[in-house]
Amino acid sequence: MTPTLEVHPAAAWADAVAAALTDRLRAWPRLRLCLPTGETPVSLYAALSASADAGLWSQATVVLLDDYVGLSADDPAAGGPRLRREIVDHVRPAVFIEIDQSGDLAAAARRHDEAARGLDLAIVGLGLNGHIGFNEPGSTADSATRVVDLHPRSREAAEGYGTEGAPERGITIGLARLLDARELWLLVTGVPKAEILRAALEGPETPDVPASYLRRHPSWRVMADDAAASLLGRADRWMTHRGDTVS
Ligand code: F6R
Repeated sequence: MTPTLEVHPAAAWADAVAAALTDRLRAWPRLRLCLPTGETPVSLYAALSASADAGLWSQATVVLLDDYVGLSADDPAAGGPRLRREIVDHVRPAVFIEIDQSGDLAAAARRHDEAARGLDLAIVGLGLNGHIGFNEPGSTADSATRVVDLHPRSREAAEGYGTEGAPERGITIGLARLLDARELWLLVTGVPKAEILRAALEGPETPDVPASYLRRHPSWRVMADDAAASLLGRADRWMTHRGDTVS
């Protein structure tokens, strides 16, 4: 399905997405949503943390999208602690579901799959390699929530987040579960993501670019800044609602 494409100037992007999410929470306080970590949402989480009315999140459930396997809680890249630091501890949802890695990892993935069942909103970022969560290249639309071997670019990204653990594996909510969410938002910012965003939206649907499967979602929204959207050659094809013009 054609997404709603929203393009905002970089400086306005975080506030615009924060306002959209705040609207969702006001309309449906018991929202069940999954959230990513990474650099893209940092400014969004700061905006949400600064602006959340007392109680706005008090009935919401936040589910962690993915995490590295085996990082200690004080590793800067560890997903659960990072999401707590950047947003959860500030907005205080009723429930926050991390990925409990104790015991058997396959069982941990199954438990997390159950936690991700029936999401109202899946918020995801876009990897430079086209991944969604840790649904790495090679993943298909029916990919389950599972333990994955990380792609070299994902390992590189982890190093950029300051990890000392050089993680080789991750656990991610699968594309199948994400495509089941009632609504899906893809967050994309910055020039380095322009090429892969174009591939995801305008290239062939392919496991080489797992994000291309998001097109199967009946209700999805791409929330980009103007830099990330700069290569969308057929932007007039999209149903646009723009914070600013894109030439
Ligand atoms: C992180 C995640 C990843 C990132 C993606 C973009 O929880 O699921 O898929 O969303 O790698 O990362 P940044 O935002 O750092 O460019």
